[in-house]
Amino acid sequence: MFAVTNSVGMFGMNAFPVTVEAEVFKGHPQFDLSGLPDIGIKESRDRVRSAASSVGIQFPKGRILINLAPADVKKSGSSFDLAIFVSLMQAMDILPLRMPERIFIGELGLHGTVRSVRGVMTMTMLARKNGCREIYVPKENVREAAVIEGIRVYGISSVEELMLHLVGQELLSPEPYCQPDASVSPASMLDFSDVRGQFKARSGMELAAAGGHNILLIGSPGSGKSMLANRLPTILPQMTKEEILETSNVYSVAGLLTPERPLITQRPFRSPHHTISTSGLAGGGSIPTPGEISLAHNGVLFLDELAEFKRNTLEVLRQPLEARKVVISRVSGTAEYPCSFMLAAAMNPCPCGYSGSPLKKCTCTQKQIHNYISRISGPMLDRFDLHVDVDPVPYEELAAQEKPESSAVIRERVEAARKRQARRYAGLGFYSNAAIPDHLLNEFCQMEHDAEIMFGKMYTYYHMSARTGMRVKKVARSAADLHGSEKIQCEDISMAVQFRGFDSKYLK
Ligand SMILES: Nc1ncnc2c1ncn2[C@@H]1O[C@H](COP(=O)(O)OP(=O)(O)OP(=O)(O)O)[C@@H](O)[C@H]1O
Ligand SMILES: [Mg+2]
Ligand SMILES: [Zn+2]
Repeated sequence: MFAVTNSVGMFGMNAFPVTVEAEVFKGHPQFDLSGLPDIGIKESRDRVRSAASSVGIQFPKGRILINLAPADVKKSGSSFDLAIFVSLMQAMDILPLRMPERIFIGELGLHGTVRSVRGVMTMTMLARKNGCREIYVPKENVREAAVIEGIRVYGISSVEELMLHLVGQELLSPEPYCQPDASVSPASMLDFSDVRGQFKARSGMELAAAGGHNILLIGSPGSGKSMLANRLPTILPQMTKEEILETSNVYSVAGLLTPERPLITQRPFRSPHHTISTSGLAGGGSIPTPGEISLAHNGVLFLDELAEFKRNTLEVLRQPLEARKVVISRVSGTAEYPCSFMLAAAMNPCPCGYSGSPLKKCTCTQKQIHNYISRISGPMLDRFDLHVDVDPVPYEELAAQEKPESSAVIRERVEAARKRQARRYAGLGFYSNAAIPDHLLNEFCQMEHDAEIMFGKMYTYYHMSARTGMRVKKVARSAADLHGSEKIQCEDISMAVQFRGFDSKYLK
């Protein structure tokens, strides 16, 4: 008998429909499976056989033929097991041949268990898009599938359970639809109220969050750079429903969603070590998996000890930072992952760490400092709109009784500033001040007359390059958005200029 079932294949973030055809012929016992790479075939056959025997079914005496179509698309992974199993059971007349259109996804384990696979959310999206009404996924992945509206999702833990359901003996209930919602996510353990003093650094962080600017923190060891950066996600706006789906989708493909954390509802904060490989950072592997920059999608990528990163590691960031997506080419195909993130980085001002610090005397020579800084290429440094000097907190501030402002209060101001930007840039394809294209800068960064004059003076005084000038304008725009002004004012200019310390102090 000839049977057909449906499944879904994945390459990168792309899901595509796969049909599984099964037929049993008279003849020598044999199991032929076409459409999968050699190694996958053997393993899949063994798993299907073991699952069948777990429910007391032996493979038929004849020849079994399984075909995964389309044949010309490379398929990989173990997620077709369940569909192969169902198809075979139909061909053997154990399951009904005629069933409404259903999609089966899952890896089979020993003794008929159904094990989790990667990319279930993306696969479910495709199934819904193609008008399919029912999808059967591993129980462990059921919650990531249940965020897709308009399709019945069943979580399966064993083939026995599935068969009883399919023959109508013991019906399973579909997983209820689960609306992605950021407000239900657990509160972060970190808060800006832990950070004492640091008024300037705090306002730098707030500005960066308000306009989506990349930020570089420079300061001596123990001054609180990591502490500040770790708290950046807590002042960013709550994730929207679309952002939750986008980011969770990347995590689904990376196999990082769990039953305990079926969705990413808080902005990710990724802090890769400086020894990370380029493919670990940007994504890679023979079947490309997302790298740190994609796991930071809609959140923060934090590079601590920036000067310790290898130059070529940092270079892979440049293009994705602009494009907000990363393309990985392999012989097996090209995968594209989203990577829209805020870049935060921290570094010491010099090899000994104490240049400019009131605590200790710096022991480095000018040349050593220069070499240290130039480890980070100019174009890379240029990606940071704000440079924040993080000075050690004086004792009086550290010991002050007053509790510093909390993340929730700062976030409210940030959200208001972001709303102004969203209104201003509606329909233009970008959302934040950091992303204003150069040719629209003058239109959107209009200044009050006296601010214009002040900007001109500062531009000359600080020997700014045209590019630095543009960065200053964008940051000033964010400062103006924080206090709700349509035109940039003098105070916004001086606010922005004070966060360009690096240019004048270290690069000359
Ligand atoms: N402003 C502050 N308020 C309260 N505690 C602080 C502050 N600054 C630093 N600390 C304390 O000092 C510790 C060290 O700070 P942190 O690790 O952020 O420094 P760092 O600048 O990243 O240092 P390094 O260059 O060595 O990485 C923090 O964990 C925190 O306990
Ligand atoms: Mg640190
Ligand atoms: Zn030094």
